[in-house]
Amino acid sequence: MTSPLIIPMPHNEAMAQAIAKFLDVGIGKIESRSFPDGETYLRFESDVAGRTLVLICTLDRPNEKILPLLFAAATARQLGAKSVSLVAPYLAYMRQDRRFKPGEAVTSREVARLLSNSFDWLVTVDPHLHRYGSLSEIYTMPTQVVHAAPLISQWIATNVSNPIIIGPDSESEQWVSAVAKDVGAPYTVLEKTRLGDREVKLSIKTLENFNGRMPVLVDDIISSGRTMIEAVRLLKEHGVSTPACVAVHGLFSDNSDQHLAQAGAHVVTANTIPHSTNRIDATELLALSVQNFIGFV
Ligand code: R5P
Repeated sequence: MTSPLIIPMPHNEAMAQAIAKFLDVGIGKIESRSFPDGETYLRFESDVAGRTLVLICTLDRPNEKILPLLFAAATARQLGAKSVSLVAPYLAYMRQDRRFKPGEAVTSREVARLLSNSFDWLVTVDPHLHRYGSLSEIYTMPTQVVHAAPLISQWIATNVSNPIIIGPDSESEQWVSAVAKDVGAPYTVLEKTRLGDREVKLSIKTLENFNGRMPVLVDDIISSGRTMIEAVRLLKEHGVSTPACVAVHGLFSDNSDQHLAQAGAHVVTANTIPHSTNRIDATELLALSVQNFIGFV
């Protein structure tokens, strides 16, 4: 039996190296670049014939990544790969899970269909499951989800004394309650109304349990950053100390990392999307999920 081969799509080299090292399997190479007109050139530098291929591609800024990824999967199959699977530490296009207005594209379903048609299985970290109960509602290939909550708990337990865990909205209660239980801290959840892509309104019901505790905001995603920035502002307004902001996926659109830093927040993210705030390492959990699928080592 030939051993599996881990191959990073561009800019995913660090995660691919770490997973390959953990599993003690080979790492392959793809050459990829854009032609002057923006089209993609792609070539497997490694021999993939007969191999169990695992492509690593986190899917922040997904529009520029998904097409090369589909090209890579199709090419690998044409070159005789035994199987072609995907580790996407951040899985994009999970938010539009319903047709809110007539005529809207339910893009989560479309991306799920494209990826499921191209790959044998998928491993990801905490996809944004809001109205879907699980990925299997839209992904037809087998999927495995890594949960970052235990890693977040570990970071808080090691770095914050006497914390209170705060979720910026009701959706975050799933992470916040699990993390609070793990670290033995109280938690509360703010109330959020989203007024637009870049506008949210937050309110807090009670400051009970706050006294003297270090606030730690926990959420799955920081995108425009408005949720975290508004939460920091609200807590300050109530005389609470500037919180630490912990998120699984730091997309940091609109320079929101800089805005959060200006607000005095200490921001921490998982390495599902490479960024200077990465302090939580999901490599081992991702590698173990890969190992479950490939049944190797
Ligand atoms: C909400 O549904 C999510 O859990 C996050 O709170 C949200 O995606 C953050 O987005 P933004 O940073 O744009 O406020």
